[in-house]
Amino acid sequence: MKLAAKFVCLVLALCLKYVTPLDNGVARMPPMGWLAWERFRCVTDCKTFPDDCISEKLFKDMADRMAADGWRDVGYQYINIDDCWMARERDDQGRLYADPERFPSGIQGLANYIHSKGLKLGIYEDYGSLTCGGYPGSQGHEATDAQTFAEWGVDMLKFDGCYSNDSSKAIGYPLMSAALNKTGRPIVYSCSWPAYEGGLPPKVNYTELGEICNLWRNYGDIQDSWDSIIDIIEWWAVNQDVLVSAAGPGRWNDPDMLIVGDYSLSIGQCQAQFGMWAILAAPLFMSNDLRHLEKEKMAILQNQGIIAVSQDKLGVQGKRYVKKNGIQAWSRPLSEGHFAVAILSTRTDGTPTEVTFTLNELNIKQATSYALYDLFEMKTVGKFLNKDLIVTYVNPNGIKMFRASPVSMEIIEEFDVWLNL
Ligand SMILES: *[C@@H]1O[C@H](CO)[C@@H](O)[C@H](O)[C@H]1NC(C)=O
Ligand SMILES: *[C@@H]1O[C@H](CO)[C@@H](O)[C@H](O)[C@H]1NC(C)=O
Ligand SMILES: *[C@@H]1O[C@H](CO)[C@@H](O)[C@H](O)[C@H]1NC(C)=O
Repeated sequence: MKLAAKFVCLVLALCLKYVTPLDNGVARMPPMGWLAWERFRCVTDCKTFPDDCISEKLFKDMADRMAADGWRDVGYQYINIDDCWMARERDDQGRLYADPERFPSGIQGLANYIHSKGLKLGIYEDYGSLTCGGYPGSQGHEATDAQTFAEWGVDMLKFDGCYSNDSSKAIGYPLMSAALNKTGRPIVYSCSWPAYEGGLPPKVNYTELGEICNLWRNYGDIQDSWDSIIDIIEWWAVNQDVLVSAAGPGRWNDPDMLIVGDYSLSIGQCQAQFGMWAILAAPLFMSNDLRHLEKEKMAILQNQGIIAVSQDKLGVQGKRYVKKNGIQAWSRPLSEGHFAVAILSTRTDGTPTEVTFTLNELNIKQATSYALYDLFEMKTVGKFLNKDLIVTYVNPNGIKMFRASPVSMEIIEEFDVWLNL
C-alpha cells in the first residue's frame, strides 16, 4: 500500500510532497481548545491564588465557560493542562499521579467532568528526567505513562523536551508515539521536539515528525506581547517553504497559543493574531481567562468566518507573497477553489494605511474573478478580476481578512475597484 502510493507519486512527480501522516484518526483539522500555560504558568499556591492556581478548579471553571459561553458550539473542544499538575514523585508502582491537594478528584475525575460537558482533556508531560517545572519526566517510563493517560481518559498529550539531550529526544519522541498507539486510545500527540532543535532541516526531519506527531512546536514560546507575535509570524514567513510542505491533515506546525484576551493586545492586534493563526493552519489553543474576557475579544475568538478558514478541510497552510513598507500580504488556499487573504500592518504611523494589491500577486488566479468577503467586518466588498487593483485600508498594527470565492462575472469594470469607501 505504502509502496504503491510511493509509485503513484513517483509517476505524478509528487514524491517530494509524499508523507504518510500519523494514522491515529485525530486532529484532521488543526485542533481547537484552551491551554493553561501562557496565562496561568506554574502557579501552585492555591492558598494565595485560589482562582488562578493550577488545580482541578481552574480546569473545571474553564470547561464550564467553554460549554456555557458558546465556545464548544463554534469548535473549541480541548481543555488542556500544562506543566505543574503532578505530585513531586511517582507512586510505589512507578505511576504518575496528580498533586492530591490541588486535584482531589485525580485526573480521571477531571476527565469525567470534562467529558460530561462534551469536551476533551489534554495533559502535559516531558521527555526527560524532569519536566521544565521540575516534576517527574517520562524518560524510561514511556509505556507506563501512555497507559496511565489512556486509562484516565486523556485525549491529547503535549510532550515537552526539557532535561533531555538531542540524541535521547530522537529516541524518546518516536517511542512515546508508539506507546500512545499501543494503548488503543486515539490521543492527539503534540511534540515540542523541533522547537528544541532550531525548527529547521537538516536537524529537524519534518517527514518523520509527520509520521509520529499530530502537531509540533517549531519555535520558541509565545509571550504576552505583540512583538512576540510579530517575531513568530516573521519566522513562519522566512521559513515558509519548509513549513508549508510539512503541514497537512493530521500534522500541523504549531506557532503556540492564542494570547487574545490577555494583558497586552489591542483589539486590532487580537484580530491580527487570530486571523494570522487561521492563515497558518495553526492549532487554536487560547490561553486566557475565559471567566473574565471582554465581549469584543470573545467575538474575535468566536468569529465563524475566521474559524472556517482555520478548519478548512484542504488543510493547506498559507504563505506570504508581499512584504513592503510594514505591510505584508498572505493567502491560504481553501477547498472548492476559495482562498483566504490577510493584509497585515506592523506600521505605527497613526492613521490607516492605503494598500493596493491584486489577487494575482497573492497567487489567486485559478479563476478569473472572485467575490471578496471581509471576515472581520462581515460584509461582501465586491467582485474582482484577478488582475484588478484592489484598494483597502489597514489600521496600524492591524489586519484585514477576506475570503475570496470564485464567481462568474458578466460585466466588470476595468478600473480600480475601491474597497470600504
Ligand atoms: C495505531 O497505528 C496503526 C497503524 O498506523 C493505526 O492503524 C491505528 O489506528 C493506530 N491506533 C491508534 C489508537 O492510534
Ligand atoms: C543523552 O542522554 C542519555 C540519557 O540520559 C545518555 O545516556 C547519553 O549519554 C546522553 N548523550 C549525550 C551526548 O550527552
Ligand atoms: C527523515 O525521516 C524519513 C521518515 O522517517 C526517513 O525516510 C528519511 O530518511 C529521513 N531523512 C533524513 C535526511 O534523515
